[in-house]
Amino acid sequence: MTAGGLFISFEGIDGSGKSTQVALLTDHLRSKGRDVVLTREPGGSPGAEEIRALVLQGDPDRWSAETEILLFTAARRDHLERVIWPALDAGKVVICDRFADSTRMYQGMSRGDLRATVDRLHSLMIGIEPDLTILIDMDPAQGLSRAKGRQGSEERFEDFGADLQEKMRSGFLGLAQEFAARFRVIDGNRAIADVATDIRDAVAPTV
Ligand code: ADP
Ligand code: TYD
Repeated sequence: MTAGGLFISFEGIDGSGKSTQVALLTDHLRSKGRDVVLTREPGGSPGAEEIRALVLQGDPDRWSAETEILLFTAARRDHLERVIWPALDAGKVVICDRFADSTRMYQGMSRGDLRATVDRLHSLMIGIEPDLTILIDMDPAQGLSRAKGRQGSEERFEDFGADLQEKMRSGFLGLAQEFAARFRVIDGNRAIADVATDIRDAVAPTV
């Protein structure tokens, strides 16, 4: 558990609106006087941002699934040590765009069943779960076209296409059942403001 502060993660397929909504929730909570640290994975600390470039740029087959688990977990460990733990210890709200549930899905499911390996490494090296996880559930076709519309250089998983997005969507919904106490599922197929209102309502009891 998180000492003092509050740890909120956002999850969902690429293009589901996470980055848009973390920014809106951060503004909202700051306007209510909360001290919020907005961060993201992979990345969030200088060392982890370097690892982000390694995993998200270049040839999608550059790393095996096992190597990817190690890289994402290494990035997360650095992010935890340098950003998340200090903020939580200081009583702040940490809002993180993706966290370990993304590794459970992308590295744990996309190329064979490696979930047990992801979980073992998580308990060994990370050992923390968010207090609250907002899952933005989204039609994969719409998510993919939104994500493609951004034209970035980080196309690692977007390149795997609609089948993977569909698998990830149902996988995330499965995680929401597995960790029902911390997950809140939000319908992302609506206007930005409507999604934001539901997220505020979901977070309100905890802040
Ligand atoms: P993610 O971080 O989950 O990949 P983004 O927040 O970057 O998603 O959103 C992807 C694209 O879709 C962006 O161009 C964003 O402006 C747009 N977008 C986000 N939410 C919505 C929404 N509810 N309706 C329409 N477009 C949206
Ligand atoms: P992100 O920048 O959140 O992409 P998007 O805004 O398109 O959702 O994440 C980049 C990619 O990294 C995304 O395709 C998911 C992937 N990813 C993993 O494979 N494992 C992880 O542990 C994390 C945090 C992200």
